Amino acid sequence: MALRRSLTDSCVGCLSRCGSFPRLFVRDCSFARRTCTSFSKSSVASIFSGKGDIGKNIETKAWVKGQRVHKDVMFLDINDGSCSRNLQVVAKPHVIQDSSKHQLYGSSVEVKGQLVESKSKGQDIELQASSVNITGPCNPESYPFKAKTRHPAEYTRQFPHLRSRTPNFAALTRLRSSVTAAVHAFFQDQGYVNVHTPILTASDCEGAGEMFSVRAPGDNDETEGDHFFGVPVHLTVSGQLQLEAVACSHSKAYTFGPTFRAEKSRTRRHLAEFYMVEAELAFTQSLGDITQVMEEFVKSVADSVYTRCSEDVQCVTDQNVKGHLDEVQRVLAKPFQTLSYTDAISILEKHQDEFQFPPSWGIDLQTEHERFLVQHCDGVPVFVTDFPAEIKPFYSRDNGDGRTAAAVDLLVPGVGELIGGSLREERLEVLQHRLQGMGLEDEYQWYLDLRRFGSVPHGGFGLGFERLLQFLLGVEHIQDVIPFPRLFGSCKM
Ligand code: 4AD
Repeated sequence: MALRRSLTDSCVGCLSRCGSFPRLFVRDCSFARRTCTSFSKSSVASIFSGKGDIGKNIETKAWVKGQRVHKDVMFLDINDGSCSRNLQVVAKPHVIQDSSKHQLYGSSVEVKGQLVESKSKGQDIELQASSVNITGPCNPESYPFKAKTRHPAEYTRQFPHLRSRTPNFAALTRLRSSVTAAVHAFFQDQGYVNVHTPILTASDCEGAGEMFSVRAPGDNDETEGDHFFGVPVHLTVSGQLQLEAVACSHSKAYTFGPTFRAEKSRTRRHLAEFYMVEAELAFTQSLGDITQVMEEFVKSVADSVYTRCSEDVQCVTDQNVKGHLDEVQRVLAKPFQTLSYTDAISILEKHQDEFQFPPSWGIDLQTEHERFLVQHCDGVPVFVTDFPAEIKPFYSRDNGDGRTAAAVDLLVPGVGELIGGSLREERLEVLQHRLQGMGLEDEYQWYLDLRRFGSVPHGGFGLGFERLLQFLLGVEHIQDVIPFPRLFGSCKM
């Protein structure tokens, strides 16, 4: 009892929370007070969302994004990556650990203090610091990002390990995470089963020969069968074929994972490693069943991210094309357009002179053609359907007209092709005949089994996740929507 009577109020608070306290108290009361602090630990986002916390003691840990030094007081703008807004800390020199170090920009800090209403312009609250401890100092001379400077994207790209500290890329990083959540929410709400399709595969889904080979130590490409897996294996270009297997048992399936293409192109919309969202549904009646899901999906994800992450969206879009957000919202409010490939080519042929690659029936659409077609549709996303069977992969369903397949691309402004999809050839004889012609019948027996045993009309699509982010946020270059880009000629870190 005597012991308890000598406790201070905060020690009693500790006692109720910390069972081991009496033993600690006997040893060292101040140690106990340090372990069981009465400051509540908060992220910067939760400090902003808890405005009712005025007067509360708060402890937060973050990085210094800005610093203004006055004679008797220092203002620090701190951010821990939890939101785009910086929290202003007001600190008298004596509360700052080693206050002789006035250069705090870029340092990591632990701040304790009281949350008060702010009289400064542009913020409602600030933290009146009682202590500022420097966790990790930063030398502003050698730190590649300068205070109060908007660095161009090309510059920040040189520092993939540091660029998530810049306001723009920090917002982009949070947005990428939120769009990921919105993708899963859409499919889960619609009853799709999520499938982890393999990254290592023995099949070339797209048949375009753009696969990276996978070799284990000692594998010998010259000796047939002398491979770790017994067969040559590659990094997947698409999870579609495996997804078809699951759609043919679960009706609706989706996958969302890394995809690899060994294309030697360094354009603003190509990566060697990108993320693809793929969906597959069974019991389809027409290509319209697939395009309907594509349209609902894009609109749902856009709506979710624009509504829930407006501050970050603003932060990113402000840096990019002016008026982008209004324009995307305008076109997403409209029904998507549809053009057959044949009609699309007729439209393009009327403007032959405007293109570097002359359009004619049978060619694959080039970026310049895609851009033209979207403009032709007043900037509204457009489905181009029923491509020449010759230029589409073996799995596309034959339309029976002797020349086209039930395949579709969704073209969007600023990006061009965002989604590729098709009905799949579900007729055993037709598919078998095609695979025979390609010399692939043996390899694809498992795929033919899906048609042998309870075949069903089905189809699906694949969407380039980075291209979706480019479209939604108006980001010019695909390298600026992925944290660690891998592309032809570059694989940093
Ligand atoms: O049109 P693609 O090649 O379609 C497929 O792979 C199908 N098997 C998908 C399916 O039906 N399940 O690729 C789909 C999308 C493209 O529309 C494009 O947005 C994106 O993937 N894409 C790329 N994104 C970034 N870098 C690349 N190199 C890309 N190649 C394709």
